Amino acid sequence: MTTAYTVLQHLQDGRFYSGEELASSLNISRASIWKAIESLRKQGLEVHAVTGKGYRLSRPVECLDLDAIYSYMGAESSHYNIEVHQSLDSTNSYLLEQAKNGAENGSVCLAELQTAGRGRRGRQWISPIATNIYMSYLWRTQMAPAAVACGSLICALTVTQALNALGVEGIGVKWPNDVIVQQRKLAGILLEMTGEAYAEQAVVIGIGVNLAMPDEAASAIDQPWIDLSSLTEQKLSRNQIVAKILLQLRANLEQFEREGMQAYLETWNKMDQYAGQEVELHFPQQVITGKVQGIDQYGSLLLQTSEGVKAYQSGEVSLRMSS
Ligand code: BTN
Repeated sequence: MTTAYTVLQHLQDGRFYSGEELASSLNISRASIWKAIESLRKQGLEVHAVTGKGYRLSRPVECLDLDAIYSYMGAESSHYNIEVHQSLDSTNSYLLEQAKNGAENGSVCLAELQTAGRGRRGRQWISPIATNIYMSYLWRTQMAPAAVACGSLICALTVTQALNALGVEGIGVKWPNDVIVQQRKLAGILLEMTGEAYAEQAVVIGIGVNLAMPDEAASAIDQPWIDLSSLTEQKLSRNQIVAKILLQLRANLEQFEREGMQAYLETWNKMDQYAGQEVELHFPQQVITGKVQGIDQYGSLLLQTSEGVKAYQSGEVSLRMSS
């Protein structure tokens, strides 16, 4: 663990801590504390320094805490094997490697920051320290690869349901696997498989949730986004959100394996932020327009077009601007 992260763990509640106090509890010099503070600032955290009072975070954070996550999960925690990392290139890349080395179903990897977080369509996923959620879950399944692809829709539903259960309102899904609010992305899902063609698929489900994006990191995001802190005044525990998503995810994946996508069609339509709306479906060479009619049992998007209702397996959806 780096000194900067240890200092951050001490500062997380947003109260003032003097350099002297920090130096003596960490058993390092005050110069090292100062260096650690500089490093946290470089990573985008705002740390106030006031003479006579010490250092304090301008916005408190909640560091990831394995014990807290397991305790929010209660008895169900035994189904998971969770690792918390301070820094990884990408939790998905890490768990894909672990999967190749035989990691079990229900293995989970979380990181306080990602240096090369990955989004869909080759995008970057901006992953500053200690403020958002970057998590991957290993799902070993015997479902066929085509069915597994629907799993990404289930994951977007999962995040929405978990946040709803914690009292967050006004959020919904956007086909195929975004969690959005007013056309701005709150969470994204990236499903990847190990690529080995056995009867069992090892699927890594990557989930990124924006909780409190620092301004500097925000300036690097190249799509409309939103974070939880601008949606609700409620102070939600980061570790509790992680636990809730993981519990909901396992329950949903089990139901999906038993009953297929059919079991989720109604829930999807209720949570679809674009239900009944005129949209554009973008392909590299073409744009299709139509009205959203929900999804089918294969997770395809149903659009009412001038040629009737058609099902689409790919493409990027955006709301159609009225002319
Ligand atoms: C998207 O583009 O909408 C998908 C974003 C997925 C981001 C998450 S963060 C945890 C996991 N690790 C990654 O590198 N990506 C996913």
